[in-house]
Amino acid sequence: MTQNNYTRYDISFSMSLIQSEGKQVVGHVVRVKTGVEGLDELISGGIPKSTITLVSGPPGSGKTILCCQFLHKGIEKGEKCLFMTLDKKVDGILTQAAELDMDFKPAIEKGQIKFLFLNINKKLVYETMTNEILSGEYDRVVLDSITPLSEMPIYVSNIERSKDISIVDSEELIAEGGFPVRRLHLHFIMNALDTAKCTSMVTSELPSGSNNLSRDGLSEFLSDSVIVLSLDPTMDRRKLSVMKMRSTRHTLKPQDIEVGKGGIKIV
Ligand SMILES: Nc1ncnc2c1ncn2[C@@H]1O[C@H](COP(=O)(O)OP(=O)(O)O)[C@@H](O)[C@H]1O
Ligand SMILES: [Mg+2]
Repeated sequence: MTQNNYTRYDISFSMSLIQSEGKQVVGHVVRVKTGVEGLDELISGGIPKSTITLVSGPPGSGKTILCCQFLHKGIEKGEKCLFMTLDKKVDGILTQAAELDMDFKPAIEKGQIKFLFLNINKKLVYETMTNEILSGEYDRVVLDSITPLSEMPIYVSNIERSKDISIVDSEELIAEGGFPVRRLHLHFIMNALDTAKCTSMVTSELPSGSNNLSRDGLSEFLSDSVIVLSLDPTMDRRKLSVMKMRSTRHTLKPQDIEVGKGGIKIV
């Protein structure tokens, strides 16, 4: 791959995010309703506020629908929401949601939700993303999906300043297109979400039948919570499993789910 295909990224900008303080949840955990019927009851009333939830699963497992429900619930509660996607088919997302009785048009017109399509090939895609998150305007943020970010190598400029980064060895960093360089994106975005203190959902595309929690093998560690959606074509069944959730007692048992009006519900 030529350097032209890489996105240039100024490491000093990113480091300011990585060095930002982590979230502090002291004492009482404030919970945010997911909008998924039956799910909040399984997780002590909702997702802990200001945390990142990874939603992973194979294509068609309901990741986008679940994220739409999460934001639709936010709108219902008068919160400000952001849906960021690297998928060009924003209209398709809106149409699918409307079919499931989630009409985002009035909220878009009121400016209560923003659907932002980001072109992965654009030079400033990461800055655009992190700046939007860090505007601090949003209560709920969705990034659907993080997979193209983790797979797209970046060309890191300003290497000298990166010597004190503990998460990557600078020699590896220099190896253009190397794995750690690619995964740096995930740290940048996750740190921006942490810093902004919004409650967020990030999706990861899993190959069908995979037992992994994310495509990149890292997002599950950077997230506070992990929800896995799965498909069982033979039995014509769908499942949802809460694999991890910060400050929450929950079952690990896969729950039967259905997709219908209102989106996903636990049955
Ligand atoms: N109106 C609907 N009624 C029932 N099921 C639907 C409807 N719309 C979409 N689905 C189901 O949801 C799937 C798409 O869900 P989606 O959240 O977009 O998946 P992904 O995990 O790929 O993001 C479709 O493949 C279909 O099985
Ligand atoms: Mg999707």
